[in-house]
Amino acid sequence: MRISVTSGDPLTTETSLLIIALWEDDPLPPPLSGSIEPGDWSGTFKQTQLLYPRGAIPARRVLLLGLGKRAPVDVDRVREVAAVGVQRARDLGVDRYAFALPVTVEVAPASIAEAIAEGSILGDYRFLAYKTDLKPEERRELKELTLLATPESADEAVRGATIGGVVARGVNLARELANRPGNELNPARLADRARELAATYNLPITVFGPTELREHGFGGILGVGQGSANEPRFIAIEYGAQYADAPAICLVGKGITFDSGGLSIKPAENMDAMKMDMSGAAAVLGALQAVAELQLPLRVIGLIGSAENMPGAAAYRPGDILTTLSGKTVEVLNTDAEGRIVLADVLAYARRYNPTAMIDLATLTGAVGVALGPHAIGLMANDDALAQRLLRAGEAAGERAWQLPLWQPYKEMVKSEIADVRNSTGRQGGAITAAAFLSNFVGDCPWAHLDIAATAWTDAKPKAYNPKGATGAGVRLLLQALRAWVA
Ligand code: BES
Ligand code: MN
Ligand code: ZN
Repeated sequence: MRISVTSGDPLTTETSLLIIALWEDDPLPPPLSGSIEPGDWSGTFKQTQLLYPRGAIPARRVLLLGLGKRAPVDVDRVREVAAVGVQRARDLGVDRYAFALPVTVEVAPASIAEAIAEGSILGDYRFLAYKTDLKPEERRELKELTLLATPESADEAVRGATIGGVVARGVNLARELANRPGNELNPARLADRARELAATYNLPITVFGPTELREHGFGGILGVGQGSANEPRFIAIEYGAQYADAPAICLVGKGITFDSGGLSIKPAENMDAMKMDMSGAAAVLGALQAVAELQLPLRVIGLIGSAENMPGAAAYRPGDILTTLSGKTVEVLNTDAEGRIVLADVLAYARRYNPTAMIDLATLTGAVGVALGPHAIGLMANDDALAQRLLRAGEAAGERAWQLPLWQPYKEMVKSEIADVRNSTGRQGGAITAAAFLSNFVGDCPWAHLDIAATAWTDAKPKAYNPKGATGAGVRLLLQALRAWVA
């Protein structure tokens, strides 16, 4: 779906569908007051009402969308209502529709346009790659959304809509990758997708297979990957070499393309969902795509450790001791705590860039869902300024994170008697001890860890812009943070 902006009066615009979003108690535009019974419309959040103006205005249909209470204006509600709008437009079978930008003094027109563009493209996403049984009308795509701005706000609206579209397409790329099943998207295929991205934006990329991984000493990635017939990969994409003096941010992604648990095998129930265990890697690629589209004046280095965690004949075992890229040794007590082992290598590699910050994203623990549920990303960091940056970015992007502590006693819990660290410590504080494990591999570089295990996938439908399946968690937060870094 293309998004365009024009300055024009919604009440004189010809369109097969005009969407008007209203806050509670906003009056209806006078020409429409005859098209509805008083009392049938109040503007509560996500209320919808379809009207047929029958010539009262040029639009053939009007969809009223409720934004809820005006004060305080919540941009995430605008984003969500835009998603409701696009889904109704598709159900109505129109090709194109227009959306009158709601006007408020509290939020700049650019931000409103951004939220509407973002919500619309996010809400329009469907994973249809494997549906061969759809009727043509079920497969039809919307062609164009026209945002109607005032003459004074049109330029700002163009800017906002462009950014919102780019961000949402980054999120949708992450969703598309995470929704793909393990038989198709194995580590080699993930690396292929990374190469395609790099080629599109002309970014240098390095991919290591088993031979190079052995040469360089990636003992963590190799150990986790050795039980699968699908070989592991390490992927590095570098954006922004020309901004030599700008901050360098390493984005590190967990790319387990399927997590069976290995020999510490998972229960059968819901194991299928573990095809999304590369959502961190997907978020890194989605964010990189958007960074390249926006041409942010930063250096952003995407680093991915990818393996399939399987219990094959050559699989790593509980009791094994692995020597990671840093030289530090890991006692494997549970082969299902594989993500942290892979990340140990990638974080150690990231230090070579001497980055301003490194941020890892990983579907790392079930425990983060026990702690926070599906409504917040778990954030742990060794640097408070970085943590605050990310918390603020999450708030602004409508993708909240919540910080958990990383105190010394947690770090004691991951020490091993026979190796440097152990990969599993039991259930208590599981999200934090996983981060405490990672903290051993970041040195003194400012680092933050985002545990997206409970937010990267949804079976319910908590927000209109998150359809079932992969959510693309982390991408919007990252982009908000990176944009703020520039400013
Ligand atoms: N990939 C899982 C974590 C996960 C769980 C992601 C649920 C998404 C939804 C991770 O590799 C894992 O298995 N973690 C274990 C760690 C434990 C063995 C210390 C867990 O959370 O149970
Ligand atoms: Mn696991
Ligand atoms: Zn995993």
